[in-house]
Amino acid sequence: MTTKTVQLTLDPNQEAIELPVYSGTLGQDVIDIGPVAKANTFTFDPGFTATASCESKITYIDGANGVLLYRGYPIEQLAEKADYLEVCHALLYGDLPNATEKQAFVDKINNHTMVHEQIHNLFNGFRRDAHPMAIMVGVVGALSSFYHDSLDISRPEDRDIAACRLVAKMPTLAAMCYKYSIGLPFLYPQNDLSYAENFLYMTFGVPSEKWEPNPILARAMDRIFTLHADHEQNASTSTVRLAGSTGANPFACISAGIAALWGPAHGGANEAVLKMLDEIGDVSRVGEYVKRARDKDDPFRLMGFGHRVYKNYDPRAKVMRETCHEVLEAVGASDSPKFKLAMALEKIALEDEYFIEKKLYPNVDFYSGITLSALGIPTTMFTVIFALARTVGWISHWKEMVSSPGFRIGRPRQLYTGPTQRDFVELADR
Ligand code: CMC
Repeated sequence: MTTKTVQLTLDPNQEAIELPVYSGTLGQDVIDIGPVAKANTFTFDPGFTATASCESKITYIDGANGVLLYRGYPIEQLAEKADYLEVCHALLYGDLPNATEKQAFVDKINNHTMVHEQIHNLFNGFRRDAHPMAIMVGVVGALSSFYHDSLDISRPEDRDIAACRLVAKMPTLAAMCYKYSIGLPFLYPQNDLSYAENFLYMTFGVPSEKWEPNPILARAMDRIFTLHADHEQNASTSTVRLAGSTGANPFACISAGIAALWGPAHGGANEAVLKMLDEIGDVSRVGEYVKRARDKDDPFRLMGFGHRVYKNYDPRAKVMRETCHEVLEAVGASDSPKFKLAMALEKIALEDEYFIEKKLYPNVDFYSGITLSALGIPTTMFTVIFALARTVGWISHWKEMVSSPGFRIGRPRQLYTGPTQRDFVELADR
């Protein structure tokens, strides 16, 4: 993999350090800065803006050109032609399944959609008004207490069953969070439904009434899952990898990923978009808020705009925008004031000098928030749905890392700027 080397001179009196340069199959070359540590120096890159933390074969992003590939397949093609479980197969095993492999995978996932009955008791320990992400962090971590017999992460079979259990159980747990918050009974999964239909059934069905899937809404849900399935080394995936690098069990690692996803700069942005639209309230106030977003002295940011990697239109946002329009039409909400407000905001921001200059385009969360809201999903559940969809990406990265030869614990260093050494002062003398 090494194609060339670069020389780094830290001290003109000493020999230059030779740093290998690696080329991937796509994307920029990377300089291996490992040899720098031998010279007792560290590199400094807070926010990891110039650091590749690992080698991976799963997902590729070209932020400048708005490209996103899962296992080489463009996201637009997957969203259009594949269903979410096919995408999960590709992420987990490296390729899209053929018809036989697909059926076997669907059967395997369906075999694990129920959760242990004891988990119902766990829910009762939470307040009804708890944020569903708080419940998810807890119950997903707690899954590790149910599978002692298959948590030997050195065994490929154990890694695989943990991955399939997580993918299978996330919709059940996510729907339970919602049902718990509104005091309705939990529904058991129905395995004759598709993955997305099953989630909608467990979320919106009630035991006393027959539930029929709406194909447009189920397709939209499936697309939301596909678009959020993976995104290479973002904050939550890196969290899962770092937690996993210690040898922690996969359920605990995914719980750590859920915690990292929760923040408004990451997965919490779709919830923040809806809150922002509520705050803006009316099309007439859009200009005022765009002006605030431009103001350096005002901490306000337009939620759902900008991305660390995409400095072009987020390719997921393009697909999500289309789905958003389909769903709004299907539920008769195309004329809703909130949607009109969102469209006015999108238009003004896309034409605004500040947003153009800083390459701040609407991201996937801008449209997914509006779409989920039209699907009848409460805002507090948005990030839970993101977590549900991203679980397959997290666990694929965890599997890739744990199964790679010679993987090591992740242990960043720091630039220390605290006090220099000083002597302890007795309490009475301070
Ligand atoms: N509204 C107004 N100004 C913005 C925005 C925004 N949404 N996003 C970035 N900027 C400005 C920022 O003030 C900075 O200006 P300056 O150069 O004058 O200091 C410049 O653009 C670069 O921003 P940054 O914060 O240095 O960029 P970053 O790569 O660290 O942050 C981001 C990326 C996504 C956290 C940020 O754009 C943001 O906070 N967006 C709103 C939250 C959001 O929608 N998050 C969802 C991301 S997509 C889902 C996912 O993949 O997790």
